[in-house]
Amino acid sequence: MLRCNIKNMQRRYSTLDKLFTELNRGLAPALETNAVADRPTPAQSLPEATMSDSEREHAMRLMRVNHAGEVAAQALYHGQAVTAKLPEVRAEMEHAAEEENDHLAWCEERIRELGGEVSALQPFWYAGSFALGALAGAIGDKWSLGFVAETEKQVVKHLEEHETQLPAEDQKTRAILKQMKQDEAEHGEKAMQAGGAELPEVVQLMMSLSSKVMTKTAYWW
Ligand SMILES: [Fe+2]
Ligand SMILES: [Fe+2]
Repeated sequence: MLRCNIKNMQRRYSTLDKLFTELNRGLAPALETNAVADRPTPAQSLPEATMSDSEREHAMRLMRVNHAGEVAAQALYHGQAVTAKLPEVRAEMEHAAEEENDHLAWCEERIRELGGEVSALQPFWYAGSFALGALAGAIGDKWSLGFVAETEKQVVKHLEEHETQLPAEDQKTRAILKQMKQDEAEHGEKAMQAGGAELPEVVQLMMSLSSKVMTKTAYWW
């Protein structure tokens, strides 16, 4: 009996240990920024557009929102990787987090080119999403994967909306959004193929509301 309790405690401590290690791993870059991409930015060979100050600022703020979204996506995957039960689901989450890192670096570079800074609240976006991801992973792989699929679906919708808002001549930012959209759609499809379940409508709605809070806030800060 005593041995069984010690075993349970050890298991609990090792999950907590993993949680804190992962949270630390993610929070460090979230605080410092300067992500390094594996793939070159899709904007690299395109010319810089001539934009008015207000157009430039609007494009920068939109990219700051996208950057905050990428911080949150990475945190979500890191959190899920800690609590995912199946090793292949864990590996899938790690892989997706790596791809989000490219998006993170591309957005960050573009924000700086447009004369701005990343969201001052990004450690907050990271910590909140990490907790959500860990919770989704703990509930079960099928829901966790469903959560990824729904997140990516909402991100694609959101990127499409940004495409309509960007200054028409800003080809550099547009090229980044186009590639991101393609990657996110793939992440979502893979999550469903791996056994993701469709989330209840009320959860979808809550996710959409909380992402609205983040996108509205990151536009300004
Ligand atoms: Fe992404
Ligand atoms: Fe993604």
